[in-house]
Amino acid sequence: HPLPPQMEENLGLRRSDCRAKGGAPGFKVAILGAAGGIGQPLSLLMKMNPLVSVLHLYDVVNTPGVTADVSHMDTGAVVRGFLGQKQLEDALTGMDLVIIPAGVPRKPGMTRDDLFKINAGIVRTLCEGIAKCCPSAIVNLISNPVNSTVAIAAEVFKKAGTYDPKKLLGVTTLDVARANTFVAEVLGVDPRTVNVPVVGGHAGVTILPLLSQVTPPCSFTPEEIAYLTDRIQNGGTEVVEAKAGAGSATLSMAYAAAKFADACLRGLRGDAGIIECSFVASQVTELPYFACKVRLGRAGAEEIFPLGPVNEFERAGLEKAKKELVESIQKGASFIKG
Ligand code: NAD
Ligand code: LMR
Repeated sequence: HPLPPQMEENLGLRRSDCRAKGGAPGFKVAILGAAGGIGQPLSLLMKMNPLVSVLHLYDVVNTPGVTADVSHMDTGAVVRGFLGQKQLEDALTGMDLVIIPAGVPRKPGMTRDDLFKINAGIVRTLCEGIAKCCPSAIVNLISNPVNSTVAIAAEVFKKAGTYDPKKLLGVTTLDVARANTFVAEVLGVDPRTVNVPVVGGHAGVTILPLLSQVTPPCSFTPEEIAYLTDRIQNGGTEVVEAKAGAGSATLSMAYAAAKFADACLRGLRGDAGIIECSFVASQVTELPYFACKVRLGRAGAEEIFPLGPVNEFERAGLEKAKKELVESIQKGASFIKG
């Protein structure tokens, strides 16, 4: 429902540019794939985020409906919808943060790598748009296989001359949320009091929970470690099987994506001590990308923390993870480099 031009301008002045006017910071956020299983609840959650002043919802289908729906929420962000490739550039222009949950999800029996064929091209196109229209934006990449799509995005940005490794973040927050939940169940405590670092990547054995570094400090029996590691590594498959062909995690993922995006926005605002796990360019291992704890700031992932002390079980897991990761990263990079 288009506003008369003067009203649109007033809305913009009142809400979208409050940073320039010295008011509370408000950031411009785009969600690409906003009409999907993750995209819809994520749009709702970002519309509720007080740090968001403008919310752009882009998809190749159904954005008018999602935008009309979400725009009736009486929260601060101005919502605009964009439909189809022709509107991608308008959706991206001026954005501070771009969240990408576009692409196909798994069905039972599939690996995340089985999604590469379709999702690689989708991620390439969207990242070409970002390089052109908002090259300084922070990018939160959700589309699977994350272990490859981050390398695809990086190569697209390198080709365009816009690559900033601090600003490209693969979203692994759901692995941490699952790890916190399952560990809390075993310990019989509130999951909000638990923090489990999860490093490596985002698929099967590349998901490496560091149970020796759980805070607050605690210990597990070997049986508990085996159970927890397996459950955390296969949390995505647990949901895919339970949904029985109707897709993969959407609600818990939207929650995790909103939590991670909020952390990125608080970092952009200049808050101190914002630490999250993310799959980023790193020198923590010999691999070009690796998930670990990062400190988020005005420039994105400003500091990448080393793995810290790992025990023998975790060291063996790390070797397995690296073996698979190196191939997934290579596959992503080659998709662009040829
Ligand atoms: P979905 O099919 O419900 O939604 C995907 C949306 O992307 C659809 O609305 C579709 O129209 C849109 N889309 C397709 N091509 C597009 C394009 N070129 N431009 C813009 N939008 C496009 O899927 P979903 O359940 O929302 O999952 C999306 C992706 O997120 C999948 O690849 C899934 O594997 C991944 N995922 C990642 C994590 C993670 O932890 N990183 C967790 C869950 C799901
Ligand atoms: C998840 O971990 O839930 C996602 O990566 C989706 C999937 O395919 O498992």
